[in-house]
Amino acid sequence: MTALTIQNLWKEYGDQVVLESVSLTIAPRAFVALVGPSGCGKTTFLRMLLGQERPTRGSILMDGDPLPPEPGPDRGVVYQRYSVFPHLTALQNVLLGPEMQASRLTGRVWGMKRRVLVDKAAALLAEVGLAGAEGKYPAQLSGGMQQRLALAQTLMMRPKLLLLDEPFGALDPGIRAEIHALMRRLWHEHAMTVVMVTHDLREAFALATRVIAFDRPRNRPEERMRYGATITNDIAIWPPRVAGRQTIYDADIPAGQDDLSRFAIHSGTTRPVAGAQA
Ligand SMILES: Nc1ncnc2c1ncn2[C@@H]1O[C@H](COP(=O)(O)OP(=O)(O)OP(=O)(O)O)[C@@H](O)[C@H]1O
Ligand SMILES: [Mg+2]
Repeated sequence: MTALTIQNLWKEYGDQVVLESVSLTIAPRAFVALVGPSGCGKTTFLRMLLGQERPTRGSILMDGDPLPPEPGPDRGVVYQRYSVFPHLTALQNVLLGPEMQASRLTGRVWGMKRRVLVDKAAALLAEVGLAGAEGKYPAQLSGGMQQRLALAQTLMMRPKLLLLDEPFGALDPGIRAEIHALMRRLWHEHAMTVVMVTHDLREAFALATRVIAFDRPRNRPEERMRYGATITNDIAIWPPRVAGRQTIYDADIPAGQDDLSRFAIHSGTTRPVAGAQA
């Protein structure tokens, strides 16, 4: 049950302030969608959660403990592209993580132990809809299939925290709807907390329990370096979604039939329209 507590987080690169005073508590099993204009620090924020970047100031606690300073199997990530290894088959891609972990020297596991891992990897591939594609290389898979593979590869390590950086951004709309249904199912069935960056508000509202917007409160050209982005909006989805408890409300809504009209969109972030219930 993974909760995150982010306290007064700042990230600066040289003179440039990217993020400033970000404070946020994320409940266990939440599905947080992070939106905001390009360059406002969303990927930087995910990289800090992953342990690939250190905050300049502030702290990140995972279940009350400081986040380990390096990436580990408890945190998985899927990017928009290139999360899988092109020279490995689908099955080998999913096996790679546990093999590296089990045998740090050779990167291989043998005998019964390997059999168990192969069965588990094949089951996970089937779970993401890739049964029969075990022997294919990523170049032989469609974009949607590659992202399914990337999800399977990440889930194989049983991450407590799943980080997604525009994972479905490059997919066609039809394929996206399918993969949304898969993502929702995976979130219900695997005990993980999810933080997903997206440019697509519809996607954010379709999947998340909570939508958080980053933006720069001070954004004049002369202010851009000195002031960073912070949380400008924090919207709990209503009616609430609860992990492990699928409702009719979670059923896939055909594109165009959901009601986003109560949110006005400004520079890529959301602000509830005055008087609307958010
Ligand atoms: N390693 C780095 N060194 C220096 N500056 C960096 C580094 N990584 C990111 N930045 C800067 O931090 C700012 C935020 O970048 P980031 O990639 O986090 O934005 P983003 O919100 O993910 O944008 P997008 O929506 O386009 O992906 C940018 O101005 C970028 O140039
Ligand atoms: Mg980014």
